Amino acid sequence: MEPVDALLTRRTVRKYAKTPIPQEKIDRILEAGRQSPSAVNRQPWHFILVTDQKTKDRLGNGVFNRHIRSSAFTIVGAYTTDDRVSKRWGLVDTTIALQDMVVAAHLQGVASCWIGDYNEDRLRETLNIPPNASIAALVAFGEPVDTPGPRKKKPLNQILHTNTW
Ligand SMILES: Cc1cc2nc3c(=O)[nH]c(=O)nc-3n(C[C@H](O)[C@H](O)[C@H](O)COP(=O)(O)O)c2cc1C
Repeated sequence: MEPVDALLTRRTVRKYAKTPIPQEKIDRILEAGRQSPSAVNRQPWHFILVTDQKTKDRLGNGVFNRHIRSSAFTIVGAYTTDDRVSKRWGLVDTTIALQDMVVAAHLQGVASCWIGDYNEDRLRETLNIPPNASIAALVAFGEPVDTPGPRKKKPLNQILHTNTW
């Protein structure tokens, strides 16, 4: 399949098989994040790879994040905000890195789901995230049980403006 066609088959998946993900695949997912672009190449991101079942259970205690529990691993994307550039662009940088990981995972047959539903205090306390780091989001990863069909997306003519809005 052409790479772009493969990318277009990505879907959010919330049901994962118990099968462990081979370490080489995890390494390539993390490498995709590490190689992402960042403003002034500051790379303010920090990624917390959560594999421990007790920790996943503790983080996946909400309605919209319970699939963290059955994920093979969940990655928390955070960034330090110690300088002006990182404060301004850290969220964008870390979001790009997480999405590059999502794409790298998908191209290797690993499914994922972005998670914005988290309790910040619980996350900070559980993972020992320092005060000078902000949290971007979480992404749960795992072997897909089934892949849902395409979600409804807005047509291009509603969202694309050429040369001027
Ligand atoms: C920033 C962000 C936060 C999200 N938070 C959650 C979440 O907390 N729980 C969840 O089940 N899905 C979450 N999603 C997944 C979206 O629901 C999903 O991307 C959307 O329905 C479109 O489906 P698709 O990814 O298959 O195209 C989130 C997605 C993004 C980008």
